[in-house]
Amino acid sequence: MSTDDTTDASMETESQCGASADAETSTDTSSNCGASPSETSADTDAKCGASETASDSNSCGASTAESDEEAVGATVDDFDADPGGLIAVGLGPGQPEGMTAKARSALLDADHIVGYTTYVELLPDEVVEGADDIYNTPMCGEVSRTEEAIDRALAGHEVAIIGSGDPNVYALAGLALEIIESKGATASMLDFDVVPGVPAAQSCAARVGAPLVNDTVSVSLSDHLTDMPTIESRLHAVAKEGFTISIYNPWSRKRRENYAKCCEILLEHRDPETPVGIVHAAGREDEEVEIVTLQELPDLGETDLVDMTTTLLVGNEDTYVWDDRMVTPRGYETKYDY
Ligand SMILES: C[S@@+](CC[C@H](N)C(=O)[O-])C[C@H]1O[C@@H](n2cnc3c(N)ncnc32)[C@H](O)[C@@H]1O
Repeated sequence: MSTDDTTDASMETESQCGASADAETSTDTSSNCGASPSETSADTDAKCGASETASDSNSCGASTAESDEEAVGATVDDFDADPGGLIAVGLGPGQPEGMTAKARSALLDADHIVGYTTYVELLPDEVVEGADDIYNTPMCGEVSRTEEAIDRALAGHEVAIIGSGDPNVYALAGLALEIIESKGATASMLDFDVVPGVPAAQSCAARVGAPLVNDTVSVSLSDHLTDMPTIESRLHAVAKEGFTISIYNPWSRKRRENYAKCCEILLEHRDPETPVGIVHAAGREDEEVEIVTLQELPDLGETDLVDMTTTLLVGNEDTYVWDDRMVTPRGYETKYDY
């Protein structure tokens, strides 16, 4: 994801997904998504019925603007074409070599690729060159972007919606199914499929040794969709129970307090010397990796190391650092001598 929350509307491409001739010949530069003009005309800037204001928000913090985004536009009855297909593809951490062969092949097979601008920029050249159309939008606008992908598929195209890591980890696979259902369509009608990718927790864990080999829980500090009291209560439970923890979405300008609160909760339950792996932009050009102690974590919130592209890996009570690597014993030492 982006290293800050700045949106980049200039990177947007125009939608070309329309199924009906009327929609395609529209002079509206926004998407028509294959729905009849009547559906889209009510909102000239809409990406398939969602409000553009969602993309204006620069933090995906739970602003009122974002709630406008939830409106879903065209329904399955608005599409005349035989449906195409929709596949949710996880790109893995970033660089093309971190992508699975299956993901690459699914992307090469897609006519249209839909995704957040930063992820589109991570696509291999051959995928970009092979696609008929690539539709990218800045951070936020997840609902409108996902709906755009669905509408293109309902309009007869083979569509891949992309995201970093895995589509099942704080990502759009579930949202896609929910919107398909809300449109009166079915997953089967679109041959909906998910192609997994390496989640950030795992690609980041690999950069610091073996921090997560035992029972692990992921927690996202994004209060965009889950309120902070709930996140705090989950963090308490997880930290108290001794799981190793991968912390997603640790910091953004609007989430400074969430990061500080997270550090406070972790320090309440864990030894201050507990090793923490900090991995920024795993597998990307600006990758940075550090292993610190839990007590050092609060002061790192204001550094470039911890931002929206960072994952934190918090050890459990047995985790130690050896030879610049985090080691969380799997438990074999309790049964075997080595
Ligand atoms: C919305 S979540 C998406 C997670 C993604 N679906 C996955 O499976 O990794 C975004 C968060 O994932 C983490 N993340 C994604 N890519 C990363 C990378 N290359 N390096 C470190 N963390 C990353 C960061 O914590 C970021 O805030």
